[in-house]
Amino acid sequence: MAGGGAAGGTAGGTPGPNVPPVVGAAIIAPMTSGWAGQLFPLSITASDANGDRLTFTWTQVAPAGEQGGFIENGSPNAQRWYAPETLAPTTYVLRVSVTDGRSAPETREVSVMVRPPRFSEVYGAILGLPVLQGGQCVGCHGSMGSYTVGASAGAAWSRLVNVGHNHGAACRNAGVPSLVVPNDKSRSLLYLKMAGTQPAGCGDVMPRGTSAVPPSPPNQVVAIGTWIRLGAPND
Ligand code: HEC
Repeated sequence: MAGGGAAGGTAGGTPGPNVPPVVGAAIIAPMTSGWAGQLFPLSITASDANGDRLTFTWTQVAPAGEQGGFIENGSPNAQRWYAPETLAPTTYVLRVSVTDGRSAPETREVSVMVRPPRFSEVYGAILGLPVLQGGQCVGCHGSMGSYTVGASAGAAWSRLVNVGHNHGAACRNAGVPSLVVPNDKSRSLLYLKMAGTQPAGCGDVMPRGTSAVPPSPPNQVVAIGTWIRLGAPND
């Protein structure tokens, strides 16, 4: 498309004058509402007539303050975003800035609505998710061992909330009395093990054996943390 002619060297693209990238009119967001800890797919189309390499910068522009995160989904123009811990329904504004490094960046924004997760959602998407669907807990905590997730959300709730753990005095004396202490994630062994911040004497990170940081996917840590901070309701 771009003709030759005037000056305008390129860093890797077609020689000739620079043509700004053509960026899609809107961010493609198939999901515009959900809960804290869900992954929101986002993508933007963009092409560059000069063949310049495009840079995509994704940010949360509102509200200011605590940030969620973007996980690249195959290529930089596609992401999965998760909210930070969100205790009341909140509108988040997400932005992508696209540039070829030569012309002014083009930006697009999308608003998504995020509410706290219900426990049934935490159970269905995280704790009780079957292994074949990507679940990471029931493989080891299905029916045997010291902790069993439970076959329903109700069973799972009653096995967690205000239930003492199996780590004895060393872990209790480190300030962690039970698996879930409503309103207090920093004393809840479930949260601490998934975030990888459990004190010595409280056993391993969960899922066990991973070297990921945090050990559980960060969006799952957000979901569990939000639910506990709201009082760990049985909803
Ligand atoms: C590879 C097997 C394995 C996987 C996967 C696994 N766990 Fe564990 N889990 C264990 C073992 C073994 C223990 C006991 C030792 C310890 O606490 O470190 C344990 C302990 C726990 C405890 C403490 C129970 C108590 O009463 O002290 C919790 C809570 C827990 N796991 C949650 C989870 C969650 C949530 C997941 C999924 C994100 C998960 N685990 C994934 C093996 C596993």
